[in-house]
Amino acid sequence: MSIQQNLNTLRHPVSNHPEKSPFNAGETLCEQTEPLTVLLLGSGGRECALAWKISQSPLLRHLYIAPGNGGTDAYGENVPLSPLDFEAIDRFVAEKGVDMIVVGNEDPLVAGIYDYFDGRDGAPLVAGPSKAGAALEGSKDFAKQFMVRHGIPTARYRSFTAETIAEGEKFLEELSAPYVLKADGLAAGKGVLILDTLEQAKASLREMLGGMFGDSSATVVIEEFLKGIECSVFVLTDGNGGYRILPVAKDYKRIGEGDTGPNTGGMGAVSPVAFADADFMRKVEERIIIPTVKGLIDDGITYRGFIFLGLIEVGGEPMVIEYNVRMGDPETEVVMLRIASDLLPLLAAAAAGNLSTMPLIEDPRYATTVMVVSGGYPGSYPKGKAITGTDAEEAILFHAGTTRQPDGTLVTSGGRVIACSSYGKNLDEALAGSFKAASDVMFEGKYFRRDIGADLRAIEEARK
Ligand code: AMP
Ligand code: GLY
Repeated sequence: MSIQQNLNTLRHPVSNHPEKSPFNAGETLCEQTEPLTVLLLGSGGRECALAWKISQSPLLRHLYIAPGNGGTDAYGENVPLSPLDFEAIDRFVAEKGVDMIVVGNEDPLVAGIYDYFDGRDGAPLVAGPSKAGAALEGSKDFAKQFMVRHGIPTARYRSFTAETIAEGEKFLEELSAPYVLKADGLAAGKGVLILDTLEQAKASLREMLGGMFGDSSATVVIEEFLKGIECSVFVLTDGNGGYRILPVAKDYKRIGEGDTGPNTGGMGAVSPVAFADADFMRKVEERIIIPTVKGLIDDGITYRGFIFLGLIEVGGEPMVIEYNVRMGDPETEVVMLRIASDLLPLLAAAAAGNLSTMPLIEDPRYATTVMVVSGGYPGSYPKGKAITGTDAEEAILFHAGTTRQPDGTLVTSGGRVIACSSYGKNLDEALAGSFKAASDVMFEGKYFRRDIGADLRAIEEARK
């Protein structure tokens, strides 16, 4: 039986947490029987956390991580392949009998890795969206059109090119400060500018359309500024109307305490999120998740993987700031801790188009992560610094920018170095574990934020 057929006839004991789907949830009971060989693509803290979780599955035969980092090799085998070299991946998959590719970062998805393997005889499952689906992250203009088409709440916007720059300036005049300008395409997380004055906004519009982010900013989305608190909601969907909502998280993007200074890839994360209560999440599901999952189907877009909803709460109401087509980093470093279910059969079932009645059960504990970064990050920073103090007992250390040298020495190789994740029965207990581990990790010039979760603690206090 092919892996696809096997997954389509999955059987699983009935859950006492039945998940609901308004579509064809399917009555098939599921139980994955055949062990799986998995290739995970990426090299960050997110992939380390995914590897940690996947490696715990009794269904795992072997886990490869390409290219991985100095921490992922604790959970599987690192292989020196580029996630964008589809032909090399193809050869590797055939040689090793890989059953499923799990894509950590967006680049291979936007470049079409799903479509590369789709429909080919004996091809592995790919957990992720097709290239058309990955445009939800790859093109902000496409994502905004999608939201408008499907009635999903988001900021008012218009898109402009070099030909329509004068209209763009006029649109800016209709809005009030601050002004939000977004490069349409991928810009390594740097493509969003928030400007305080109209003059700055007009100048930035000209610069962006003039090639500030290369082709990525040939189209610029200008949108209304939304004021509120943000959170990240992750959904695993099977492209057939089945979906599971993962534990909600909040990340901390700025380098400085009190959310000051430049944006980073993420300095820490917390789950659960005090303001994302049952009422808020009901609105998120009804107004955002269901229309998104259904909209993809209605638009004929194949999507079998994670959807990342970057949300903002405005006056108690959720609105979409952005879609990403992968898990968040560092949110994954807390979300994986809070999934009690085995993730591997869920991923395989989603990739096979049949989540059916498979449960996703949350761990009730809190999880937090504190990212230890290189001094100078997100500007320039040194690499190759020896790392010690990584044997924390109170935390799980997810490596991000680390490399193990041939002699076994662990050294820094990136800006974000290690995410220190811990559990707790409450926020303070989880944070204590993360901060202790972040203090213990040692390398020259290290830095971490000591206020991760402080805003949520204040919200929890206020709600008591
Ligand atoms: P990025 O993750 O680089 O796309 O940065 C997007 C960030 O810019 C979001 O996390 C928000 O903090 C901010 N942002 C984007 N769009 C808006 C908006 N319409 N209103 C307010 N803040 C926004
Ligand atoms: N933490 C935000 C992101 O992964 O884009």
